[in-house]
Amino acid sequence: MSEKILVTGPFGQIGTDLVPELQRINGKENVIALGHRNIPADFDGVLEKGDVRNPDDMARIFSEHSITQVYHLASLLSAIGEDKPDLAWDVNMNGLKVVLDEAIKTNVLVFWASSIAVFGPTTPREKTPQRTVLEPTTMYGVTKLAGEMLCQYYFLKYGLDVRSIRYPGIISYKAEPGGGTTDYAVDIYYKAVKNEKFTCFVNQDTTLPMMYMDDAIKGTLQIMDAPFEAIKVRTSYNHGAISFTAKELEDVVRKHSPGLVVEYAPDHRQAIADTWPMSVDDSAARNDWGWCHEYDLEKMTIVMLEELKKKFQQ
Ligand code: SER
Repeated sequence: MSEKILVTGPFGQIGTDLVPELQRINGKENVIALGHRNIPADFDGVLEKGDVRNPDDMARIFSEHSITQVYHLASLLSAIGEDKPDLAWDVNMNGLKVVLDEAIKTNVLVFWASSIAVFGPTTPREKTPQRTVLEPTTMYGVTKLAGEMLCQYYFLKYGLDVRSIRYPGIISYKAEPGGGTTDYAVDIYYKAVKNEKFTCFVNQDTTLPMMYMDDAIKGTLQIMDAPFEAIKVRTSYNHGAISFTAKELEDVVRKHSPGLVVEYAPDHRQAIADTWPMSVDDSAARNDWGWCHEYDLEKMTIVMLEELKKKFQQ
């Protein structure tokens, strides 16, 4: 029997890359995108309109499509969450609760996106362990940490197979991220390709864990494909790839795009970045379900610049 897969947040940064890959693997008719606002006019696939916070919407969609898997990506990110903490709580927490409550009715396999934002200023910042101090200071981080606990609770109480990754900053060219603290590492490529000056909102020594989108998609599919027994962490797995300072990023991008001009003007997002890890220890993901990344900074930079050049030439 083929899977029937619901993706919430299908047009966000991750969804934009994940949906076509799920369609390719499972058939276009088996992937249902939950559209809320900002539905791209050129979307090619099955679309359902609804709100993750609305139990009636979700009950109808789960039942009409006999959903067997859900990738729950709908979420407000860190910087926007500081501007709109009430909305971040509402979407991130209530959306997850509604999805989990629906999933337990028919034992749907759930993927949920967590983040390095679950860590905070009291967490060790280098090679941050899988199990460590979790005292986030952003609303986004608070919702991701509470969400991890909720996922584990549904696993323990109801036996729900829910799997999760703590994504680092993700770098991609299809959809721009919106409202995140790691967005500078995407924006620099856009500015390089458009020959515009890049004003970086964190200082040049800022180091955060990052990952190229293809690796993020690979890891997401890998954890969902792993056997039930392999998933030993039911909160969320550290998911690492590369770490670099903003200056190292600048230097590598300039190597391939020599005209790049960068100015550093840290703003309120610096304070958020300073509370997050510089690198994560993801050996649990590597040991439990075979996670490995492929893209280093150089390889990612070459692809990002090539793809963005194509995008803006069209
Ligand atoms: N990219 C996210 C953010 O910056 C981290 O999960 O908010």
